Amino acid sequence: MKMHRSQWQIACPATELVPGKFVEFRLKEKAVEPEGMPLTGFVFLDHGTPRAYLNLCPHLGIELNWMPGRFMDADNLFIQCATHGALFKPGTGECIAGPCQGDALTELDVREQNDLIEVRVRN
Ligand code: FES
Repeated sequence: MKMHRSQWQIACPATELVPGKFVEFRLKEKAVEPEGMPLTGFVFLDHGTPRAYLNLCPHLGIELNWMPGRFMDADNLFIQCATHGALFKPGTGECIAGPCQGDALTELDVREQNDLIEVRVRN
């Protein structure tokens, strides 16, 4: 997916980002293709390190989760797409099983600044 270049933007207060929690946010940017599509993402702690991805399954380009904040599989090992069950490594976004195997989630830059978690689209 093509996207406009992004500025740092607030995802959530740093205090919200606790182990096991997935915080969803809406990006200011829209997709270039398909044009104007709103972009959302999620951020979580991966072994203590904040990590953020676009909430977009590489299979059909739709959001991964049906339930707010629910992204992990039943074993709590992989990020799972709720639509067709693709599994993604939390640390890299790589799809290791499912219809988009070999593809990957789109990772966002993430940083903590002034007690806020900020994200930015990579170019
Ligand atoms: S839409 Fe995600 S696996 Fe098909």
